[in-house]
Amino acid sequence: MAEQETLYDAFLDELRDAYDAEKQLTKALPKLAKAASSPDLREAFETHLEETREQVSRLEQVFELLDERAKGKHCDGIAGIIEEGKSVLEEDFSDEALDACLIASGQRAEHYEMAAYGTLIAWARVLGREDAAKLLEETLEEEKAADKKLTALAEGGINERAAEEARADDESEEEEEDEEDEEAAESQPVRRTASTSGAKRASSR
Ligand SMILES: [Fe+2]
Repeated sequence: MAEQETLYDAFLDELRDAYDAEKQLTKALPKLAKAASSPDLREAFETHLEETREQVSRLEQVFELLDERAKGKHCDGIAGIIEEGKSVLEEDFSDEALDACLIASGQRAEHYEMAAYGTLIAWARVLGREDAAKLLEETLEEEKAADKKLTALAEGGINERAAEEARADDESEEEEEDEEDEEAAESQPVRRTASTSGAKRASSR
């Protein structure tokens, strides 16, 4: 009978997954930075890109501690998150709405990584590899800080600017509709409500 895989094998698998995820992110983060309109948001992505490069080499150190070859295994989870982020870039969002969407994409990636490193740290400890756990902990702290930074940017004005711009857009749309209504009122009464203009907007996405 073939030998069954152990928690150590699962740990190694997760490490390879994380290694591949970080490498994918070093390619995706410059695209997010480039798409950002807010200089603070761009800087946050650029700073995290530098950290992510460090995280790749930190994982290489973990492989070395374990006497294992540093090797990635395609991470489908982060690939999906990156793919969704890219589809946002293809939409015709206003600068303000796009910044809010970029934060949402970035935070999905951070939370995925936080979950992965949380598991890796717990498994490293239970496997008696405090040395590896320590290094992984450093990365987890960076991911948490990056996530907090994005929340602060969203709540510190980016969401509000996007909402203001949506309201302004709504008002000008209503003005246009009022004019149309006046023209139409002579032959047939037309009632438009905020909810129908909202539905129109949702369906045009
Ligand atoms: Fe990371």
